[in-house]
Amino acid sequence: MSVNSKLYEGKAKILYTTDDPEVLLADFKDDATAFNAQKRGSIQGKGKINCIISSKLFEQLEAHGIKTHFIANPAPNQMRVRAVNILPLEVVVRNIAAGSLCQQTGLPLGTVLKKPLVEFYYKNDELGDPLLTSDRLYLMELATPEQVDAITHLALQINEFLRGFWQRCSITLVDFKLEFGLDSQQQLLLADEISPDTCRLWDIAEGDSNRRVLDKDRFRRDLGNVENAYQEVLQRVIKAVETKN
Ligand code: TMP
Repeated sequence: MSVNSKLYEGKAKILYTTDDPEVLLADFKDDATAFNAQKRGSIQGKGKINCIISSKLFEQLEAHGIKTHFIANPAPNQMRVRAVNILPLEVVVRNIAAGSLCQQTGLPLGTVLKKPLVEFYYKNDELGDPLLTSDRLYLMELATPEQVDAITHLALQINEFLRGFWQRCSITLVDFKLEFGLDSQQQLLLADEISPDTCRLWDIAEGDSNRRVLDKDRFRRDLGNVENAYQEVLQRVIKAVETKN
């Protein structure tokens, strides 16, 4: 399949059209940004690592009955995906309090939530991806009530599955962000990526609150050893997938 022109360049990926209008090619970059791109850097090998981790997780989720945009990997840092119109929503699922939940509520870091929290943020860099109320979501017509219900149900299902998967990697799934899109048949598909860029992942065996961090918080918070953490997550994912099959 030939690759045509660049369709869109985001902070972590470039999307190319292909000769099939239903298929796009996502090229994962090593570039890293945080705090709405106010902090910029590069994490060596990240494109390849995130692409492989995301692909493995999408395959596992597909096998579990969740529809995703994943098709195949023509190269380690490239994912062939179904073309979708991304809904302008960042869907965050939280199991443990961290990040903006702690900043905005005062809940102490590490508080185990009684039940998973599903939150919708407006995917809009200019506005800084603000947290939405459901009235604002409908005011802005960002999704229909049916889509919000379907997404909430899927997000909780994905959370249940991923918690178990990461547990087998000796990793606690603290929280993560999902994006969904609609294909040409208006079918809702899980899209974007699931990786250490988009999840908070804590090493179960590590008690120290900084050393346990195996995700992009190492970059956001200048904790060091960013590449090592991403590599460690990749190795654990590969092992967990191999031991399951
Ligand atoms: P937050 O605590 O900063 O709101 O982040 C919640 C989760 O969402 C965390 O796992 C990181 C992820 N996330 C993204 O993937 N992209 C983003 O732009 C932000 C702000 C968070």
